[in-house]
Amino acid sequence: MAVPFITEVKRTHTCGQLTKSNIGEEVVLFGWVQNRRDHGGAVFIDLRDRDGLTQVVFEPDIAKEAHELAGQLRLEYCIGIKGRVASRGTQVNPKLKTGEIEIKATDLSIFNRSEPTPFLIEDDIETGEDKRLAHRYLDLRRRPLQQSLMTRSKMNAITRSYLVDKGFLELETPFMGKYTPGGARNFLVPSRLNPGRFYALAESPQLYKQLFMVAGFDRYFQIVKCFRDEDLRLDRQPEFTQIDIEMSFVTQDDVFTVVEGLIKRVWEEVLGVEVPVPFPRMNYDESMAKYGNDKPDLRFGLEHILLTDVVRQFGESGGVPMMWEAVQAGGIVKAMVIPAEKALSRAESDKLEDFAKQAGAKGLARAKVGEGGDWTQSPLSKTINPELRQAINQACGAKPGDLLLFQFGKESLVHTVMANLRVHVAKKLGYIPEYGSGGVWKFLWVVNPPLFEFDEETNTWAAAHHAFTRPHDEDVPHLLSDPGRVKCYRYDVVLNGFEIGGGSIRLHDPKVQAEVFKALGIVDEDARAKFGFLLDALKFGAPPHGGIALGMDRLAMLLTSAESLRDVIPFPKTKTGTDMMTGAPGDVDDRQLREIHVRPAPLPQK
Ligand code: AMO
Repeated sequence: MAVPFITEVKRTHTCGQLTKSNIGEEVVLFGWVQNRRDHGGAVFIDLRDRDGLTQVVFEPDIAKEAHELAGQLRLEYCIGIKGRVASRGTQVNPKLKTGEIEIKATDLSIFNRSEPTPFLIEDDIETGEDKRLAHRYLDLRRRPLQQSLMTRSKMNAITRSYLVDKGFLELETPFMGKYTPGGARNFLVPSRLNPGRFYALAESPQLYKQLFMVAGFDRYFQIVKCFRDEDLRLDRQPEFTQIDIEMSFVTQDDVFTVVEGLIKRVWEEVLGVEVPVPFPRMNYDESMAKYGNDKPDLRFGLEHILLTDVVRQFGESGGVPMMWEAVQAGGIVKAMVIPAEKALSRAESDKLEDFAKQAGAKGLARAKVGEGGDWTQSPLSKTINPELRQAINQACGAKPGDLLLFQFGKESLVHTVMANLRVHVAKKLGYIPEYGSGGVWKFLWVVNPPLFEFDEETNTWAAAHHAFTRPHDEDVPHLLSDPGRVKCYRYDVVLNGFEIGGGSIRLHDPKVQAEVFKALGIVDEDARAKFGFLLDALKFGAPPHGGIALGMDRLAMLLTSAESLRDVIPFPKTKTGTDMMTGAPGDVDDRQLREIHVRPAPLPQK
């Protein structure tokens, strides 16, 4: 008689659980057929569930019926088995936790058969990502993805337990909010009940979490989806998850302590790695000067050297007109040294120039340092004033055989090109692996950035972060007279070259708020239209407050050494924002569009 699996006969163990200590026990396992071998007489299968693999053997003299049915088993059939745990004798598989035992099956039930899958459910497969994404539910059966998502689940559990222990409340905020211009581009949701009007999907719970502070909730957190219609990259998805935190009555240091404690717990419990706290801190200006961005990878050196002042000092007499012109036009000059012991061939250094051009550079000036400090393999060597050459060598700490790489021009472009080049060279020279941490975790706080950035297109100052970031008290007098020098309590937490979180101490003082808006050229009317509700709220005894949001997907990606966010998000979008499995975004019929009062604009001509 068939065993009533599931209804009466329940699973006793997972497929990753049984060891020598269970030998002799009668067990029931459910799972999928990972592989099947017919050894003339006995049928062997590996049964898989999310916990692991267990070998099951069907022998005709133990259970004739089950053995016969086992003949029908194929890959990915979903089955239940009952049997007794036995030793594998000498046939031990040391790679598996269950490798010392097998189950001698007495009963088998096929819950569901499987068509041949479009790709094999194995750890390493060559199948293209598009095909795997189209059948994501099958891809998710593979162990690397199962492990990544289980790690994510553990991260969620640790986060909740840690923050709740520290007195944080988990409170929810709306996804459908009011559209406010500025910041990330929003996804819009038309309102059927309010013709012609739209909700914006929240790019973050920022304003709401501040309102929680005004309301007196004191410590808030949420593991929350955010939506941003940005250009996508390996570390950017249109919907992503933040660990969002806001606290009242705190300084920047208090926020750091909470975040450091959380990260320490996650690394300890997930990887068994001890992360030293507090994390080091670096001023934004130093980060830009040495690394070209505000998310430096500190696993290796290759620091940038700023040469602007040296070039300015020599002026025209320096003999490198291009550098001098860049400085005169308000630009900067930077160098980076590839050490002699990592000597690159001429062809390899030419390839670096191609890379720099892809990053937006016009070219990549280079010079090889000779025995006496002279330069070779460089067009610069012909005209450069030897004293400038010596000054540059000295600033760079250059030794014979070193290769110097130069960028000069507009500040932002020089920083970007050199920042990209630094990481590219580090991978090329083997200082860091292509993906993953290489077992080295370099956490860093980047602090004290400017409050405003100059927008060259509109020729005005814009908020570098959001308009409610608190400036340093000593800089408040310069808000209107010299906005560029005002620093603020904004901070980013960085890991191995990725920004894993960012936040700020907020501006709760309406007087300073008014001055910041003035400096930004936001008139009262605009401010009211954008965030009138927050301005009103701040008038009613708002507590001093601040917070941060950590990028959960990025944390998971780095923790699991994944190549992209797609490996740690169950159902991700591709680079063009499509879901290969469901086909979203899809067409909508005219009736539905009429109902929500939307008429599509004509598609752009191809
Ligand atoms: P911010 O915009 O810096 O701050 O976002 C916080 C963190 O979220 C992650 N992140 C992303 N991850 C994946 N895909 C994306 N498209 C994406 N965009 C951002 C990053 C980033 O550091 N409200 C503020 C926080 C605050 O001030 O408290 C905010 O959203 O890891």
